[in-house]
Amino acid sequence: MRIGILTGGGDAPGLNACIRAAVARAEDLGWEAIGIRRGWAGLLENDCFPLSWPFVEKIVSLGGTVLETSRTNPFKREGDEERIFENFQKIKLDALIAIGGDDTLTVAHKLAQRGLPVVGVPKTMDNDVPLTDYTIGYDTAVNISTEAIDRLHTTAASHRRLMVVEVMGRDAGWVAIASGLAGGAHLILIPEVPYDLEEVAQFLIDRKSRGNTYSLIVVSEAIHPKDGTEPFGYEKREVDAFGHVRLGGVGHIFAELLERKTGMEARATVLGHLIRSGPPTPFDRNLGTHLALKAIDLVQEKKWDHMAALKGTDYTSVNLGDVLSQTKRVPLEFYNRIKLFFR
Ligand code: F6P
Repeated sequence: MRIGILTGGGDAPGLNACIRAAVARAEDLGWEAIGIRRGWAGLLENDCFPLSWPFVEKIVSLGGTVLETSRTNPFKREGDEERIFENFQKIKLDALIAIGGDDTLTVAHKLAQRGLPVVGVPKTMDNDVPLTDYTIGYDTAVNISTEAIDRLHTTAASHRRLMVVEVMGRDAGWVAIASGLAGGAHLILIPEVPYDLEEVAQFLIDRKSRGNTYSLIVVSEAIHPKDGTEPFGYEKREVDAFGHVRLGGVGHIFAELLERKTGMEARATVLGHLIRSGPPTPFDRNLGTHLALKAIDLVQEKKWDHMAALKGTDYTSVNLGDVLSQTKRVPLEFYNRIKLFFR
């Protein structure tokens, strides 16, 4: 067997542990592993190289992806889909492991439906891939965000300020809710629950009148106002090959508006790409490792169009079609439950 491995979409800590484990297990089975550079772009451009244990041995603690990544969509330009199949033959691959979030997995699913022997591994710091408890990169993002929030409390308190902390997560508020709760935020805003600016301002004014000298709010990058208007500046933003608008920066605008409405001095900190950079947590390293081992099982069983997944303490497999027909967002009941701490 000769298997290709690629990573697509935003990078995430734990990807290298996943690549390393796939190579180790492939070699153990007497297979060859081929690294495809920059996600689907590498298959379009025939950009690949042989992977071996000496190359991957020490990358378990390394952030990013040694295969590099891109947001390439081979279903966008005419002829690209055919080129994927041609190059798959040229490289003499028998199977492909595609490690990525919903965009990469959507491409994998479409290609599998057209006959490509491909299996998926869920990766994204957003944690929004359904039918798996966790995705590679989420735990690290929550850890880094929580540490940042812990730190930001002290400067906010010292200056009696309002601190708005913005975290990534796209349309899912998982990172915001987990790090905000763990970091003792006074309010957490997520895309799943639209906000009302007047209500947020009133909440801050009430907090102050109860003797609280400072406030810290965690906001997810794609928060939406209740009145249904476009979030700040969206209409002017670039979109990627999958049609997603580039997010980031809402925290600054939000802080400015709240400063005007409450009279409290405000600052914003956008954590941005920091939370998906650098060494993965032990959890993400082990998650990546086990998901890779499961993905190799799927290749052995020829369970194409499936994804390795974590359910409870079991590494299992799910149909990619089922994964992609659902969404995994923070449920309203979950948000309402932790409102207890918004005080
Ligand atoms: O999907 C992962 C993610 O980190 C999102 O949370 C974020 O909106 C996006 O990627 C940022 O992408 P880029 O690396 O292209 O700026």
